[in-house]
Amino acid sequence: MRTLISNGTIVTAEGRSVADVLIDGEAIATIGAGLAEAGVTADETIDATGKFVIPGAIDAHTHMELPFGGTFAKDTFESGTRAAAFGGTTTILDFAVQSRGASLREGLDTWMAKAEGNAVADFGFHMIMSDVNDDTLREMDTLVSEGVPDFKLFTAYPGVFLSDDGAIFRAMQQTAKNGGLIMMHAENGLAIDIVANQTFEAGTTEPMGHGLARKAVFEGEATNRVIRLAEAAGVPVYIVHLSSKEALAEVRAARDRGSMAFAETCPQYLFLSLDDLGNGFEGAKFVCSPPLRPKDHWDELWTGLVKDDLQLVATDHCPFDFHGQKELGRGDFRKVPNGLPGVEDRVDLLHDGGVVGGRITPERWVEIISTAPAKLFGMYPRKGSLTVGADADIVIYDPNRRHTISAATHHMDVDYSCYEGRSVQGGSDIVLSRGTVIVRNGEFTGRKGHGRFIKRAPADYVRLS
Ligand code: URP
Ligand code: ZN
Ligand code: ZN
Repeated sequence: MRTLISNGTIVTAEGRSVADVLIDGEAIATIGAGLAEAGVTADETIDATGKFVIPGAIDAHTHMELPFGGTFAKDTFESGTRAAAFGGTTTILDFAVQSRGASLREGLDTWMAKAEGNAVADFGFHMIMSDVNDDTLREMDTLVSEGVPDFKLFTAYPGVFLSDDGAIFRAMQQTAKNGGLIMMHAENGLAIDIVANQTFEAGTTEPMGHGLARKAVFEGEATNRVIRLAEAAGVPVYIVHLSSKEALAEVRAARDRGSMAFAETCPQYLFLSLDDLGNGFEGAKFVCSPPLRPKDHWDELWTGLVKDDLQLVATDHCPFDFHGQKELGRGDFRKVPNGLPGVEDRVDLLHDGGVVGGRITPERWVEIISTAPAKLFGMYPRKGSLTVGADADIVIYDPNRRHTISAATHHMDVDYSCYEGRSVQGGSDIVLSRGTVIVRNGEFTGRKGHGRFIKRAPADYVRLS
């Protein structure tokens, strides 16, 4: 099957130009101006006049079917990758979980079984480490060689995922040797739990208590601590879901002194705020960790994206229905399952708020949604680029079309939207995954099981620092 995308504005992290793209099978075969006029033929020609042609977006942080907070994140790999595709995302990196007492292998096999044969678009895994011991340290090396080169550890969630500093440092030392990357959920979970319990005992039971207890200083402290530990171990470290000025200041300072420190933020920290946690129990829809911050953090985070102290935006997609799941925390904010839906909305929110809003160029938009995650997570140039030989993961994007985000029309398997009623400019018209059209003008045309596991290489971090 040969597909010719003609006359679109090709936007990559490097620049923009009007050209044609010829796809042969699963890969990009040729890029150039006037291919049709030059006699190039194809089985299908897509006229992309007036549209952006961009590399498929990559969401480096999702949680499909995550067991968490006494329930499960509701999207499966099928529903979640399908929703992602509607929003222009053609690759997700999800987190496989090592259960306490089990091996990393068991965790990876479990997540592979959830995804393989179900995902409609490509996927890879990071590994959440719950136990650090001689066996799991050895297993880390094996996983790196099998294309799972990143390990997430937590200074948060005592009794669930929290690792102490010694365990984190051992994992960092191992990763310094095996070429992988350490990902950190950086919040001081022990201090947070003390404040959360005090807040609850003082009578604040509603979701706002979650936001008040998880203070930004606790994120800043933990961010500094894990970066310093990583410096001592000589390993690159990536701060996930960075939400606050305090944490960003630590990443910026580390990068300024030459550290291999990287970070992502998420749409919820750019577009939602602590105010959303108000309005009684409705605020449960917005409970995630780190929590939403006051609005005065937004500008700092955008500046971080412009200046590359934040390299990319991922969603931390972790959807729980309001009815029946978030409601587990009615009367006690500490029991609300933590996590927000968003895998479908990221590309459009960032186009609207970033490009249309005049904060970033279209090139930087492509970089933070696609190219930077591909580079940082060892998939570039196969993913995240429009180059000959790359996977034909391509989005024909209409930068002018407006639509309104709503749970009534979204494709994520969750009963509410954090962005209900928000009008955004920009939308994915046609989405190709490895040369196959999987979304066309609002219709799903892909198939369950089309998505493949992407075996990733340890990244070339120095190039990015
Ligand atoms: O609230 C969140 N972020 N839920 C997902 C789990 C995590 O910490 O990433
Ligand atoms: Zn986390
Ligand atoms: Zn997460």
